[in-house]
Amino acid sequence: MHDVAAREVAQPVVSDPVLKGRVSPRLAVPAHIRRPDYAERGRPRGFHPSRPFTDGELLRMRHACRAAAKVLDEISALVRPGVTTDVIDEAAHAAYLRLGGYPSTLNYHGYPKSLCTSVNEVVCHGIPDDRPLHDGDIVNLDVTIYLDGMHGDCSATYAVGDIDPGSAHLVAVTRECLERGIAAVRPGRPFRAIGQAIEPHAARHGFNVVRRYGGHGIGRSFHTELHVPHHDDPRATRLMEAGMVFTIEPMLTAGTFSVREWDDGWTVVTADGKRSAQFEHTILVTETGAEILTIT
Ligand code: MF3
Ligand code: CO
Ligand code: CO
Repeated sequence: MHDVAAREVAQPVVSDPVLKGRVSPRLAVPAHIRRPDYAERGRPRGFHPSRPFTDGELLRMRHACRAAAKVLDEISALVRPGVTTDVIDEAAHAAYLRLGGYPSTLNYHGYPKSLCTSVNEVVCHGIPDDRPLHDGDIVNLDVTIYLDGMHGDCSATYAVGDIDPGSAHLVAVTRECLERGIAAVRPGRPFRAIGQAIEPHAARHGFNVVRRYGGHGIGRSFHTELHVPHHDDPRATRLMEAGMVFTIEPMLTAGTFSVREWDDGWTVVTADGKRSAQFEHTILVTETGAEILTIT
């Protein structure tokens, strides 16, 4: 685990606020692609609680997670100044379909696009639109695919052109927090151990951890009832078990951990307008620790 030295580093810049852009029409999914139950009406009909997977399900889960990682890897190459998040959405949409999968976010509770693109002070659930990325921005690309009846979910934050040292520090520490959270996974430990690994590391570098959103159980459902806090939450007493599959996806902020939502009903921004970064993997609890499933 590579650690950014805990030294005095400039705080991330506060750039002009991200403004709401124009959202293009919904993209189509060909009929031969298997769809989740919410694809037409927006509400998941079935809810599949977290439970150990059969060998066959685990195989399908590995396949879906690997595909999600491939899509993320592919679209990350597009990140540069001048590219709109809508262009990234089109590329992600095409990549899911090429792999035989459905874009899990598309019409999930009515969400209009095929991934989330969260720029600067946008914490999560940013909707791709016609805003071009600017030199100095940071952008999280959050990719989820539904393939072989399973959802695979991962995200990473990327620098657009040259970013300031404070933003680079925020991004690096957030990546480390994901690594530390994963390293804390072990059967028999309470879920609280994950936040206990993440929050002090963020704090040591002067950053806060968002509390409103956490990781989640995943599989046949996009989000199961299993909630994974990224801060030290004493309520997270449930024990991890070998065979469980869930995401860890810490969101760190340069200022307050408080967030607010835009009136589009989706976009989550920091309450103070300071920048936020996020990284996410879907992981499997093994007998000895965790295995990252969202790798290419
Ligand atoms: N991929 C996000 C997560 O990590 C969820 C996005 S749901 C959406 O849980 F509806 F906002 F797209
Ligand atoms: Co995600
Ligand atoms: Co997730």
